[in-house]
Amino acid sequence: MRILIVGAGGREHALAWKIAQSPLVKELWAAPGNPGIARHARLLPVKVDDVEGLAGEARARSIDLVVVGPEGPLCAGLADRVARDGIPVFGPSAAAAEIEGSKAFAKEVMQAAGIPTAGHAVFDEPGAALAHARARGGRVAVKADGLAAGKGVVVCGTPEEAEAALRAMLVDRVHGRAGGRVVIEDRLSGPEASVIALCDGERVRLLPAAQDHKRAGDGDQGPNTGGMGAFSPTRNVPEAVAREVEERVLLPAVRELARRGRPFRGALYAGLMLTPEGLRVIEFNCRLGDPETQPILMRLQGDLVPALLAAARGDLSGVRLAVDPRPAVGVVLAAEGYPGRVTTGDVLRGAEEDFGEGVQVFQAGTARDAAGELVSAGGRVLTATALGEDLAAARARAYQALGRIRLRGGHYRKDIGVT
Ligand code: AMP
Ligand code: GLY
Repeated sequence: MRILIVGAGGREHALAWKIAQSPLVKELWAAPGNPGIARHARLLPVKVDDVEGLAGEARARSIDLVVVGPEGPLCAGLADRVARDGIPVFGPSAAAAEIEGSKAFAKEVMQAAGIPTAGHAVFDEPGAALAHARARGGRVAVKADGLAAGKGVVVCGTPEEAEAALRAMLVDRVHGRAGGRVVIEDRLSGPEASVIALCDGERVRLLPAAQDHKRAGDGDQGPNTGGMGAFSPTRNVPEAVAREVEERVLLPAVRELARRGRPFRGALYAGLMLTPEGLRVIEFNCRLGDPETQPILMRLQGDLVPALLAAARGDLSGVRLAVDPRPAVGVVLAAEGYPGRVTTGDVLRGAEEDFGEGVQVFQAGTARDAAGELVSAGGRVLTATALGEDLAAARARAYQALGRIRLRGGHYRKDIGVT
């Protein structure tokens, strides 16, 4: 088979590493990829938002399966465009991806399907929004309706905080059109976890549950980020909870989307909060999580390609996923300044070593400079990921690998996988 991976992050490096192990794969391509992905795939210099360019490459190279990593191209209709040429795509249509692309739509789907989630209301007018938040004492989560690169949620504790968040989104338009409409949710509390399933439009196959660390600093302090590390499994999701998520969240969501003529084929990500009143969905994503994918794929045994192809073709009935019982931990190395303005172009040393069985360094924001040296090129530079006999052992091995990597100004959390 000829496979094309779309994306350039740690998630896509993990996908490339896993897919390259499949005996079914004859050629592996990635667009635009990164130097880590280039160890497993040939790179095409096409940006992820160039829908026509990507579809053209898929046709020209007789690609048999396109695997799309990020939400942007999915919401922009890449899967629809590629499917029009008769090429199977792992990743939902724009209509199905709206479950991530519009938080108001996601809430509508959840309500219609009876999926447990926080109470909410939708606003595009600041006065009414503020009155609603005030009536709740400011204990709300203010969410930009559209895609905001993981920065569209502000959890508030006072009316003043809610007012500031609403003003920023609805008046100052800090997220542009994405924040021209907001969802105000009642504020929940409890531990969080992510459950991701491969979906074929009708059936779901759960990947092992994971937990990510969204705040920049140790002890969950500091600003929100795309994710500073992740681990799998998590004791927040024992087997019984995973079954509950399948029955009460993922299957109802897939059925409701199908009922609306928007069958979901790809990875559906449920962000969960385990509240004292039971589990609640706080978000859906239309794709695999980053960095959750890195430890999840380390644990997945066997060939991933038949499962991706089956989801893309709409029939997962014959697919069973086997999971390594050993936990995995992935720790993100971030560039100086992240999650604010980052410095790039710093030399990265030690990232391309062989770290031994069960340890992988997945690259994200990396590039080669004119001299061919590996340099930093983004906020999240790489994810050092390791399997271990238990969580502590996996953590120790991931940090050992990180300890051998050098990046000026690079920083990482010291408590990934500490629960
Ligand atoms: P997101 O950007 O959608 O991943 O949300 C960022 C974070 O906001 C989540 O990981 C939660 O910690 C928090 N959050 C989202 N919704 C709520 C809510 N209804 N109540 C409390 N916290 C929330
Ligand atoms: N790590 C959370 C996400 O991928 O959205």
